Amino acid sequence: MELREATDADWASIWPFFHTIVSAGETYVYPRDLDEPAARAMWMVAPPGRTVVAVDEHGTVLGTANMYANKMGPGSHIASGSFMVAPEHAGQGVGRALGEDLLAWARREGFRGVQFNAVVESNTRAVKLWQSIGFEIMTTIPEGFHHPTLGYVGLHIMYQKL
Ligand SMILES: CC(C)(COP(=O)(O)OP(=O)(O)OC[C@H]1O[C@@H](n2cnc3c(N)ncnc32)[C@H](O)[C@@H]1OP(=O)(O)O)[C@@H](O)C(=O)NCCC(=O)NCCS
Repeated sequence: MELREATDADWASIWPFFHTIVSAGETYVYPRDLDEPAARAMWMVAPPGRTVVAVDEHGTVLGTANMYANKMGPGSHIASGSFMVAPEHAGQGVGRALGEDLLAWARREGFRGVQFNAVVESNTRAVKLWQSIGFEIMTTIPEGFHHPTLGYVGLHIMYQKL
């Protein structure tokens, strides 16, 4: 697996699994019917942010992440980011590699910490993965997320100081 900067041409490979993940409504605070142009505008962040893809030896896109300053101005020293791994390639270390890449980027860029604003409590794979690379649950917004089958569940703010 290789991680590289995403190009415009990668979007066609990202959109199918992006759509699957977002329309399921279980892990992201995006509208479940988010259309393709809006999704592209949201995901493919421009510099000084960065969007990356993880690809295999055949060039198949396995997953993607984006990363950017969490807030503007006096809050711009804290980074944030988002992650999506194609369901058929989950559980193979792609998410971990993308998470570690975000941390390396944030250190290189001089950010002082990384904050994930909305990690769904029931998304135990993500919560455990982020904890395993150094993030802590700072607080949980009770019933902050409306899950399609579980109903209202907590929404974690996760953070790590760099
Ligand atoms: C969450 C997500 C990014 C994780 O990516 P991934 O490539 O599947 O994760 P990894 O293969 O790197 O595995 C991460 C950990 O999860 C664990 N894991 C794998 N499959 C699992 C499963 N079915 N249930 C629970 N944990 C699992 C692995 O054990 C691994 O830990 P380890 O490296 O100590 O063994 C990915 O599943 C995804 O895109 N999910 C949908 C969107 C999403 O939730 N994004 C994150 C929002 S905060």
